[in-house]
Amino acid sequence: MNLFELNNVTAGYGSTPILRDVSLAVEEGDVVSLIGRNGVGKTTLMKIAIGLLSPEEGDVMFDGADVTSMGADERARAGIGYVPQGRDVFPRMTVEENLQIGAEVGGGGREKLYDEVYEYFPRLDERRDQNAGTMSGGEQQMLAIGRALVGNPDLLLLDEPSEGVQPSIVTEISERVQEINEEIGTTVLFVEQNIQFTMNASNSCYVMEKGRIVDRVSPDDADDESVIEEHITI
Ligand SMILES: Nc1ncnc2c1ncn2[C@@H]1O[C@H](COP(=O)(O)OP(=O)(O)OP(=O)(O)O)[C@@H](O)[C@H]1O
Ligand SMILES: [Mg+2]
Repeated sequence: MNLFELNNVTAGYGSTPILRDVSLAVEEGDVVSLIGRNGVGKTTLMKIAIGLLSPEEGDVMFDGADVTSMGADERARAGIGYVPQGRDVFPRMTVEENLQIGAEVGGGGREKLYDEVYEYFPRLDERRDQNAGTMSGGEQQMLAIGRALVGNPDLLLLDEPSEGVQPSIVTEISERVQEINEEIGTTVLFVEQNIQFTMNASNSCYVMEKGRIVDRVSPDDADDESVIEEHITI
C-alpha cells in the first residue's frame, strides 16, 4: 500500500510553475530518496508534501485520504513529521525543550518516543540541557530528526539531512535513519545531494530535473549507482 502519493502536482510561487506534473509514491515501510541538483525543486516538493505550499494542480494523498487542502499543522497531527532544510532547531532552547515542542506538534493520541530518540542519538542524551544553538551541525541535525520523530509519525520527511554535517556524522545519521525505519517502522522520504547517504539509507530513489521527475532507480542495483552519481555530482 502507498502511504504517501503526489499525483500530477504542478506548483510554484508565482506565475511560473516550479514543479511540473510531478507524481511520486512512497510505499508503507519504505525509505525513498529524491535527488537532483541545486534549484531543481526538491524543497518545493517537500513543502507540498507537508502542506506549507498548495499545489495549483494535482493532489496529495496520505494514508488513503486526500490531504491536499490540509495545512501543515493538521498533517503533522495526522502523522507526518518534517525536518526542513537547514534544520531550524530553536537555538535558545535546550535539546529537551526542542523535543517537547516536537511532541506537541505531533498532537495527542500518539505515544511519545523520548526514550527512543535518546537511544538512537546518545549525543542528544548527553546534551539534554544544552542550548541547541551551541551544538555542531551534525548534532543539530540529530535534534531536528529527534524533534520530528518524538511524536511517532508514520511518515518522516527529511530535506537534505547531510547538509553542513561532517562526513563521519553523515554515515552515522544515515544508519540511524535505516534503524528507525526497520525497528520503529517509520516510512521515510528524504531529499539528498549526498551519494553516500542516498546509497546507504534508501531502497528506492527518484531523480528530479528542472521540476520534473525523470527517473526512478534502485540504489541497491550497481548499474543505477552511476545514474545517481550523475544527478548528484555538482
Ligand atoms: N519562496 C520562494 N519564492 C519564489 N521562488 C522560490 C521560493 N522558494 C524557492 N523558489 C525558487 O524555486 C526553485 C526551486 O527551489 P527549491 O528550493 O525547491 O530547490 P532545491 O532543489 O531544494 O534546491 P537546493 O538543492 O539548493 O536546496 C528555485 O528557482 C528557487 O529560486
Ligand atoms: Mg532544497
